[in-house]
Amino acid sequence: MAPTRWPLPLLLFFLLSGAATATEDASPSNPPPSPTPWPERFHAVLFTNLTNYSSASTGPPLRITDLYYDWPRRRNLNLVRHQLSADPLYDVEWDNGTSFYFDSSTCRVQRFPVGVLPPWWLSGGGAEYVGREVTGGIECHVWGKAGFIVYYEEAATGRPVRWNFIDVTGIQQFVMSFEPGVALEDAQWQAPAHCFPDDGSEEDGNDQGKSNDDVASSSKEEVGVVMLEAASRVLRKLAGAAAAS
Ligand SMILES: *[C@@H]1O[C@H](CO)[C@@H](O)[C@H](O)[C@H]1NC(C)=O
Ligand SMILES: *[C@@H]1O[C@H](CO)[C@@H](O)[C@H](O)[C@H]1NC(C)=O
Ligand SMILES: *[C@@H]1O[C@H](CO)[C@@H](O)[C@H](O)[C@H]1NC(C)=O
Repeated sequence: MAPTRWPLPLLLFFLLSGAATATEDASPSNPPPSPTPWPERFHAVLFTNLTNYSSASTGPPLRITDLYYDWPRRRNLNLVRHQLSADPLYDVEWDNGTSFYFDSSTCRVQRFPVGVLPPWWLSGGGAEYVGREVTGGIECHVWGKAGFIVYYEEAATGRPVRWNFIDVTGIQQFVMSFEPGVALEDAQWQAPAHCFPDDGSEEDGNDQGKSNDDVASSSKEEVGVVMLEAASRVLRKLAGAAAAS
């Protein structure tokens, strides 16, 4: 078999473009891009899909979440609306590790050993560059961190686009809007009276009758709260990883 004869200009083109690619990949003057730190305050609307829904839980897998991140005040709020549910769930997280999960009638208080994620939780170290990928039609840089998360950032602007938690629930969140600098007024962060029972007993309240890690509860409210906790638990884990890195 005669070897294929490449026209010289085409062969040169291949050699040159191959060389150019190699240079781009290997040159120390082209290190992988770094993630953009989060702004100190922002409001984001997230579309959430618990993609491992069928095996991981019994609640509704699709949600719209308003996320208010407020680093100067060291607090984080998720306002979660499950599909076709009238009663939104709130998750107010404080830097002292206390989280309040409540809707119009139920409340649960949970303690975590870590506080709110700092703006540099990803940019400050430990992120592994995965490469470029188009998601939702948006050209992104992608990083992974600590086996917890895969994070997509718009290549052109540095805005967050999407993150997938590496978790049995398979939580994926898609950033539908992102408004740096937008803050929620103080009154909106206050947990309601039914989070503070009159009897002054400890916060895990016996009347709810559930221990912190009991996922085997069956009432609708409990299921909703458990589902809400899934995302916030991984975020808290991430906060721990960020603090340790
Ligand atoms: C949610 O994730 C599941 C599992 O990957 C997928 O089949 C489904 O289409 C997704 N739903 C939406 C609305 O994106
Ligand atoms: C943490 O801070 C919040 C908001 O100020 C407060 O309601 C909660 O009681 C605090 N938790 C602890 C354990 O101090
Ligand atoms: C989905 O959930 C099941 C049950 O919790 C778990 O065994 C499985 O590993 C999960 N799948 C993924 C991809 O995490």
